[in-house]
Amino acid sequence: MAVPQELPEGEGKKLLEERCVSCHSLKPVVSLRQNQGTWKKLVVKMVGLGAQLDDKEVDVATGYLAKYFGPESPAPATKPDSPEDKIAKRYIEGICSSCHDAALIRSTEATKQEWFDIVTRMNGLDAGVSQRDVDLLVDYLASKYGRK
Ligand code: HEC
Ligand code: HEC
Repeated sequence: MAVPQELPEGEGKKLLEERCVSCHSLKPVVSLRQNQGTWKKLVVKMVGLGAQLDDKEVDVATGYLAKYFGPESPAPATKPDSPEDKIAKRYIEGICSSCHDAALIRSTEATKQEWFDIVTRMNGLDAGVSQRDVDLLVDYLASKYGRK
């Protein structure tokens, strides 16, 4: 059975939780970021596949999706941090911020290799990221603060 996921509050939330979970979970929904027109096409496609929404409900669902899962929406706000993300954040807020502001990290854009080099250099300065956690931290940094 599809387990409903956490959705942000708003008009349309209930509709999605009731009508969009009979065939699949909401996972493919909450991971998407797209504009209103693209959402509308998708919802119409779902209706074609058998989702039970009338025209008005299609508009409500589309409006909700575009508002919370639009191109400008933050990366999956509904998804709780993975254990890896939590460990990475603990390093950044704890250890990395003990010498300089975390803003220095947020304002840096680097590739995975460059982040690896930075973390290695910081370890040379005594940051003390354990070998085991270097990869995890580098993955996190590269995904959040990658080169655009
Ligand atoms: C009657 C079954 C059914 C219902 C109800 C349903 N879907 Fe789907 N959904 C599908 C199927 C089947 C696919 C895979 C289609 C494909 O791959 O072309 C899918 C795929 C998706 C995808 C993946 C992207 C894509 O284009 O394939 C998203 C996102 C999605 N559905 C969202 C929704 C939303 C939002 C609703 C509620 C408005 C909904 N679905 C209701 C059957 C359903
Ligand atoms: C012991 C103090 C210390 C700790 C702990 C530390 N840093 Fe640094 N960091 C520095 C200093 C000093 C600089 C500036 C000199 C330099 O770049 O070598 C710096 C510079 C940076 C820069 C600027 C870009 C660059 O290439 O220089 C980034 C990004 C950075 N640190 C990230 C991190 C991260 C991520 C962590 C946690 C793993 C961390 N730092 C932990 C001392 C520290």
